[in-house]
Amino acid sequence: MPLVVAIDGPAGSGKSSVSKAVAERLGFGYLDTGAGYRAFALHAINNPDIPLEELLKSFDYEISLDPQKAQVLVGGEDVTSEIRTQEVASRVSEFARKPRVRTLQHQDARSRVALCGLDGVVSEGRDLTTVVFVDAGVRILLTASEEVRLQRRSAEKTESTENLKARDASDSKVVEFMAPAEGVKLIDTSHLSFEESVEAVIAEIERSRA
Ligand code: DC
Repeated sequence: MPLVVAIDGPAGSGKSSVSKAVAERLGFGYLDTGAGYRAFALHAINNPDIPLEELLKSFDYEISLDPQKAQVLVGGEDVTSEIRTQEVASRVSEFARKPRVRTLQHQDARSRVALCGLDGVVSEGRDLTTVVFVDAGVRILLTASEEVRLQRRSAEKTESTENLKARDASDSKVVEFMAPAEGVKLIDTSHLSFEESVEAVIAEIERSRA
């Protein structure tokens, strides 16, 4: 098994950009588990008349573990940009709350990591430290104040304030994303620069290997 670095955090905590940078720096793979939920949401949006069970059966997707590409395919089609639209962002939580969708995503994340053949994988999401990779070599919860998270999202121009707040409220009904489980290192990035956040995560990985 590769060394699994499991990083959880809410939208706007910096977990995606930090996780990607850490993976690149260490030559590890990068698994964005949110992309799997977004890919499913896109599949459901594109097939509005198909029942959930059928959608789950016909859901064929791939996520590249290359941190520089982080490419996502649905039915063989590159949807890497499409899964970042406002429409997907506004509907993803609705699908991510469904237990069958979560079970599928959990299984897929575990098998992608187990079969990747790499030395390490930095995986990021919401419930990796608490559910999916509870035995990961490194478990981190990245947080940031709501104010900072909103500022970051508006600077990225990727998501409206209203949507981010609604998604936070909806997401928090699934699992307790914000409370660190035992043994999880809490890193608050509110007052850290991007580089400092990357260094803080790498320091934690090095501590675990020492
Ligand atoms: O990290 P993100 O914003 O791309 O995640 C998209 C959605 O997927 C998010 O609103 C909640 C859900 N998600 C989840 O429920 N569990 C995960 N491990 C990752 C994402």
